[in-house]
Amino acid sequence: MRPTENLKSEHKDINELLKIMSKIAASIKSNEVFYTNDVEDIIDFLKYFIDKSHHGKEEIFYPALQQAGIQKDIESLNEMLYEHTLARTYLKDIYSCVENCKNGFSFSGEMLADSLNNYVFLISNHIQKEEDIIFPMAERELSNEKQIEITNKFEKIEENIVQHGFHEHYHDLLKKLQTKYPD
Ligand SMILES: [Fe+2]
Repeated sequence: MRPTENLKSEHKDINELLKIMSKIAASIKSNEVFYTNDVEDIIDFLKYFIDKSHHGKEEIFYPALQQAGIQKDIESLNEMLYEHTLARTYLKDIYSCVENCKNGFSFSGEMLADSLNNYVFLISNHIQKEEDIIFPMAERELSNEKQIEITNKFEKIEENIVQHGFHEHYHDLLKKLQTKYPD
């Protein structure tokens, strides 16, 4: 599998999760009940599936593009990496809001909804840029050898980070949330 195919298939799952996050943020904004355990499941997905695995792979992919002389624009590369850092900040905000809520500390639903929306806005634009600009460029320009080399490195990331049953666990989690928050 080409590295971009691997990343794109993960984007499909990530986009589904973003839709659920938007729905939860909207219900918090309209003062409806929300379930802390669902947001905790989302945090789990954001932390492991997106940050550690997916963004970990992209942090190999972008520099490889640059080394191959394709992604010459260092600023746009740095911007993509900066967005990963920003996503981690929004994830921490979501986590702190849920912890405060669970522990009975002063808690702002507005802040939780804003953090969820910030994450959704950032990562949907990030994915759009990758799929519209960066991935087609990589597919056109990267040699087969280079693509195989990147795919091998992706596999190593999965071996290092991903525990046995990782993908099944996150697909099941996504399905459970989709059933609870249907389109
Ligand atoms: Fe991505």
